Amino acid sequence: MAIIHVPLKTTIDDSYDIEIGERLFERLIADLSGGLMGEVHRYALITDSNVRRLYGEKLFRLLGAAGLNVSLFAIPAGEKSKTREMKANLEDRMIGERFGRDSAVIALGGGVVSDLAGFLAGTFARGIKFINFATTLLAAADASVGGKTAIDTPQATNLIGLFHQPKKVYIDTTTWDTLPVFEIQNGLAETVKHACLGDRDFFDFLEKNVDKLMDRSAAGRLDRVVCARIAGKNCEIKYRVVERDVGESNLRQVLNLGHTLGRALEPLLHYSLGHGEAVAIGLMYQMRLGRMFGYVGNADVTRVQSLFERIGLPTRIPPRVKPALLIEKMYTDKKVRKDSIRFVFQKGIGAMMRFEGGGYSRPVTEIELKKALEESY
Ligand SMILES: NC(=O)c1ccc[n+]([C@@H]2O[C@H](COP(=O)([O-])OP(=O)(O)OC[C@H]3O[C@@H](n4cnc5c(N)ncnc54)[C@H](O)[C@@H]3O)[C@@H](O)[C@H]2O)c1
Repeated sequence: MAIIHVPLKTTIDDSYDIEIGERLFERLIADLSGGLMGEVHRYALITDSNVRRLYGEKLFRLLGAAGLNVSLFAIPAGEKSKTREMKANLEDRMIGERFGRDSAVIALGGGVVSDLAGFLAGTFARGIKFINFATTLLAAADASVGGKTAIDTPQATNLIGLFHQPKKVYIDTTTWDTLPVFEIQNGLAETVKHACLGDRDFFDFLEKNVDKLMDRSAAGRLDRVVCARIAGKNCEIKYRVVERDVGESNLRQVLNLGHTLGRALEPLLHYSLGHGEAVAIGLMYQMRLGRMFGYVGNADVTRVQSLFERIGLPTRIPPRVKPALLIEKMYTDKKVRKDSIRFVFQKGIGAMMRFEGGGYSRPVTEIELKKALEESY
């Protein structure tokens, strides 16, 4: 018998740039023509049916006109497309068009497109490069940083996937002009979460400027300066967390702020609530629990609640959701340890609580959960 050791230690530099600006198609084309992707000869431009009509066809034409070899693939818009079947369908189409290892993916769209196309890129021909061109505020705020890619299955959302970092992310704030208000609200929920967990000044900025994202100017345009600050701050706060905990062992839990109750609420309401709405309700519940433990004061709770109200996001649990069912559902949260529900907590506004042993979450008893639920309807 022989044992052969295969030494396979590798050092990988997965760093990438996030470019935030306006009308970035030209920048993307200049980067691709300038060799950003190395030995890549074909591009699969993956988008959804809405974004195809708004921006996809145009980018496809511009890439072709620049002499790049590109094919356009569109999936039906919406979360229902983030499936194994849709990934397989795209893979089959790409194989049919003889895409190989010398190709790369350009994901043009929101978080659904980047999660699905990023996952596809991570497994196609054992991994090809991809570009993320984000067109929603949520994708800019959350899905663009961290390298998480995934699909949903009937049993669980985002459980099947991998970490696959893009070569570059483009956040083109001009694309936000066409976003429906509901999608702006969704992105702002994660934005407020980021401010609450990591940046008090940014929270002040949101209080002063959030209305500029709710009202379009006469020309139908959003305030560019505010958009750029929101995009930049979201990325900065998230990458500060992610760069210290790429594999999600401890610190990255803080990004879960507001999600323990929020994620439990979504299936109980059969996903009729937007993710941003669920996060806003969950974040307020976490604050009410935190107020019981002395982590936040009354004034903090009022400030966050009124910011959510100005954005048009709910802050209370819909009465049709039974408290007992909510608690039961929270036991499926990924932070549950030794049968106890754990929460991450903000410390005032702009910082996170740290607990004994350096962890960022602590257990909460059912009695405590129920007490905070009484104030949350
Ligand atoms: N990987 C991560 O770290 C991460 C983080 C947060 C969320 N996500 C995932 O992101 C998804 C949600 O992201 P999303 O809200 O961007 O969803 P989405 O991609 O479904 O976009 C929302 C809607 O907006 C439309 N749209 C996109 N850009 C537009 C534009 N510029 N103008 C008009 N309409 C436009 C889309 O067609 C869609 O109908 C979820 O699947 C979630 O799990 C992933």
